[in-house]
Amino acid sequence: MTPTTRLCVNGETVDVAASEDTPLLTVLRDELGLVGSRFGCGQGLCGACFVLLDGVAVPSCQTPVSQASASSGVVTVEGLPEGGTPHPVQAALLEGQAAQCGFCISGIVVRAAALLSTNPAPSADEVAEALEHNLCRCGVQRRIIDAVVSAGSAR
Ligand code: FES
Ligand code: FES
Repeated sequence: MTPTTRLCVNGETVDVAASEDTPLLTVLRDELGLVGSRFGCGQGLCGACFVLLDGVAVPSCQTPVSQASASSGVVTVEGLPEGGTPHPVQAALLEGQAAQCGFCISGIVVRAAALLSTNPAPSADEVAEALEHNLCRCGVQRRIIDAVVSAGSAR
């Protein structure tokens, strides 16, 4: 019988049927239907699956659910808007029409949100450095960096 693991996800306590070494990404997508976090490489290399764990951006494909259970909480891209208002990074990406296919964007939003929580007005170089492990196959990194910078300066 599959054990039950208790998690806090986007502010809600949930019990999921998952062994302790199940990747958090699998639980989020397959158990909880939170498909904003993408499966890209599955090896911690592309950034498409980033979520916040204790406020820090981590690759959920490489995070066992036991680690998430021991944390104070997981925030996915779905949990970043507040009161129906998009997170400033989400709003800036929309405003700047920065995304192309969008596959990388959830992970980038999460990583950028983590950056703004510690550096509210980052420079373009600081954004580029923060996002260096978020791959974008569409090549719109310049637009994404500009949008994150504008999200910071607008706050
Ligand atoms: S799918 Fe997790 S880092 Fe690529
Ligand atoms: S917008 Fe297509 S992968 Fe980044």
